[in-house]
Amino acid sequence: MRSEELTMLDRMWFPVARLDDVGLDRPFAAELLGRRLVVYRSKETLAVATDRCPHRGARLSDGAMHDGILECPYHGWRWDASGSCTLVPSQPGAHPAATLDAFPAVERHGLVWTRLAEPAADAVDERLARPPSIPETEVPEDGWAFADGAWFDVACGLRSITENFRDSSHFAFVHRETFGDVNPAVPAYEVERDEWRLSWTIRLTFGAAWAVDGTGGDVGVNVGSGTFIPGFEDQLVGMGAGEQRVVKVTFPANYGNAQLAGKEAEFDVTVKSIEAPGTVTIDEAFAKTLGLESLDKLKEAVKGRLQVEHTGLARQKVKRQLLDKLDEMHKFALPPTLAEDEFKNVWNAVETDLKAQGRTFEDEGTTEEKARAEYRDIAERRVRLGLVLAEIGEKNNITVTDEEISRNIVERARQVPGREQEVWDYYRKNPGAVAAIRAPIFEEKVVDFLVELAKVTEKQVSREELLKDDEDEKSAAG
Ligand code: FES
Repeated sequence: MRSEELTMLDRMWFPVARLDDVGLDRPFAAELLGRRLVVYRSKETLAVATDRCPHRGARLSDGAMHDGILECPYHGWRWDASGSCTLVPSQPGAHPAATLDAFPAVERHGLVWTRLAEPAADAVDERLARPPSIPETEVPEDGWAFADGAWFDVACGLRSITENFRDSSHFAFVHRETFGDVNPAVPAYEVERDEWRLSWTIRLTFGAAWAVDGTGGDVGVNVGSGTFIPGFEDQLVGMGAGEQRVVKVTFPANYGNAQLAGKEAEFDVTVKSIEAPGTVTIDEAFAKTLGLESLDKLKEAVKGRLQVEHTGLARQKVKRQLLDKLDEMHKFALPPTLAEDEFKNVWNAVETDLKAQGRTFEDEGTTEEKARAEYRDIAERRVRLGLVLAEIGEKNNITVTDEEISRNIVERARQVPGREQEVWDYYRKNPGAVAAIRAPIFEEKVVDFLVELAKVTEKQVSREELLKDDEDEKSAAG
């Protein structure tokens, strides 16, 4: 039985396809409030129906279009835009009374809208008689236009996605790599109400890594902090206020944003002002500048962040010790091609990073020969541990579910707002890329499994101790 909420939502209009998705030559599969729909059209008419053939239940969206008539992929029954059956190939001339479970279909703003139930005859539902209008787009000279983005799946419910749009405080954390302001404080803003419409304006400061062909806004750079793309800060040295310079960098091969990783980029930078670090008094007033109620709240927030960071670092240490132990316990000859392939991958990443930073092996206090030997050891250790973990995982029925893979892809897609569909398409078309996602998830699950079995002794250490040798550990543990 449908919940009261869904029954209410059934009476509202929702877009289920872009007009361009619904070709004369192909139907389109959509889903609305848990129902699978097929969207199709004849030359003149749009149609939306339940995506299930009344004959034997085949998915109509897998079928074909013939001159505006939808053909079922199973026994070929044909359906017109009103949902009536026009042909049964096995019984030409027969006209069964079967009809599709059809819904209204309306085009507005380049989208196909439908609703699953008729509105009730009352004042509230009266405003649901037609799909909503978006008045701003009706006056193009005001600068509003539709940006027709690509489809992307959001693995959450309607309420969560609505909340996501309303609460911009997640920008600084979820979209840090792109448009999120590094300052988590959300400046006060006014919400205006016009009958049932609410609107508000939020000022965004776009991050420097917004897009390869994009335009960045003002952003503060702490030269020497090493927080920007390698090589970026170095090229700002010597610039004065008002000066312009083209900064050329290469995004690291392991850059979080897969679309930018390994890409060369040019930033046209203008220095607006130069500031020197000053002192900050951590007090109530300072907490308020960050948008927090009080100093206590600020302390709580900082504590929470540190806890997350420390838990992550501690987990890394446990993982490192566990992998060291496994490495020690398992010595066997490696398949030579596997080891060589892994070394090539590692070496390629090392050379790319070094090039991106404009540095040499000598700058790193080593030689190419020594570095090769060192990274060959790391590659061999990775292959050996990979094989050992695979064996443990297999023997203990540890698997990676499709849902875990999807969640991971959703995370990756979130990092490139507006280009989510490209990320989905990339993974859909590249089983190798999906395998590359699966491997680390599998490894983490096997590590979790072993940590559960292991006797882990808790030890109190200072932050410095926790951070010590972190770099070495990161490279070796991976
Ligand atoms: S299931 Fe559609 S024609 Fe048979």
